[in-house]
Amino acid sequence: MALQRKQPERRDAGAAPRVVRAPRAAHAQCAAWRAQGLRVALVPTMGALHAGHLSLVHAARRRADKVVVSIFVNPAQFGPHEDLAKYPRPFAADCAACAAAGVDLIFAPRPGDMYPAPYSTWVEETALSQHLCGLRRPGHFRGVCTVVLKLFNIIQPHIALFGQKDAQQALIIRRMVRDLNVPVQLAVCPIVRERDGLALSSRNVYLSPAERAAAPQIYAALRRVTAWHARGWSCARIRHALTTALAAIPGARVDYAAVVDEATLEEIDTAHRGQRVLVAVAVFIGTTRLIDNLRLTW
Ligand code: PAJ
Repeated sequence: MALQRKQPERRDAGAAPRVVRAPRAAHAQCAAWRAQGLRVALVPTMGALHAGHLSLVHAARRRADKVVVSIFVNPAQFGPHEDLAKYPRPFAADCAACAAAGVDLIFAPRPGDMYPAPYSTWVEETALSQHLCGLRRPGHFRGVCTVVLKLFNIIQPHIALFGQKDAQQALIIRRMVRDLNVPVQLAVCPIVRERDGLALSSRNVYLSPAERAAAPQIYAALRRVTAWHARGWSCARIRHALTTALAAIPGARVDYAAVVDEATLEEIDTAHRGQRVLVAVAVFIGTTRLIDNLRLTW
C-alpha cells in the first residue's frame, strides 16, 4: 500500500507563527513535522522582509506543507566596513508579515546560537565565489555558505527557496549542495521589482529621496542590454555600453558591470549560440550598494 501523506492542518494566513530562537527547538519542531510525513520548506532571510522575500514564502506554501522562515542578520557575511550594525531589524513588522503570509515557524537565532565561541568551522566554495561580488566582498560567500549549510542542518528542509535577485548566491548554494551531497531540493524564484523597475531590497531604505529617484535607472540600463543583444552586439561591446550607461546615473559609482557565463561566472567577450549568459551589476548609489541582473540565452 502506498504511504499516504498526511493532510496538514493549513495555517490560516493571519495566525501568528511560532517564533523560535534556539536551534535545538527549531530542529525538534521540524523533525516532528517530517515524522508526520509533512513536507518542510525553508526560506532563509536576514529579515526586513519585503514583497521579494514574501514571493519566496508564497512559492514555498505551494510546494510544502510547513513553511519555515529564518531571520538572521548573519555577521559572518558582512565585511568589516559594511553595514552590519545599521542593517534594518524590524522584527515585529517581520513577524506580522510572516503571519499574514501563512508562515508556520520563524527561526530567529541570536548570533551566539549560530556561532558559539570558540567558533572555527567554515564552508567555502572556491570557484564561483572568485567572481563578481566575491571579488569585491572577500569572505562574503564563505559567510553565506556557512550559515546556509547550518540552517539546512538545523531545519533539514525538503526544499529551500532563494531569489534570482542574488544570482551568484543562488548558484554558489546550488554548487555547495551538489558538492557536499546536501539532501535538499532548491528553488530559485524570479526577481520582484517596484513598479518603476527597482529590484526590491532591504537596503533600499538607505536611499535618500534623490537616490531613490535615480535607482530605477539601474534596471533601465539592464533592459537596454536586451535590445543590444537583439542587435547582435558582442558581450564585450554590451559590457562597455552597460558600464557607460550605469556610470551616467546621477550619484552612481559602478562597482562592476559583468557579462559572464552562467555556469562558471567567467567573463565572456563573444558568446556562442545557446550559451546561457548572466548580465550582473553592482552599483553604489551614494553609499548604498545595489545589485541587479538579467539572464540571456545567446
Ligand atoms: P536576504 O538579502 O534577506 O534575502 C533573502 C532571500 O530573498 C534571498 O534568497 C534573496 O535572493 C531573496 N530576495 C531578496 N530580494 C528579492 C527580490 N527583489 N526578489 C526576489 N527575491 C529576493 O540573501 C540573504 O538574505 C542572505 O545572504 C541569506 C541567504 C539569508 C544568508 O544569510
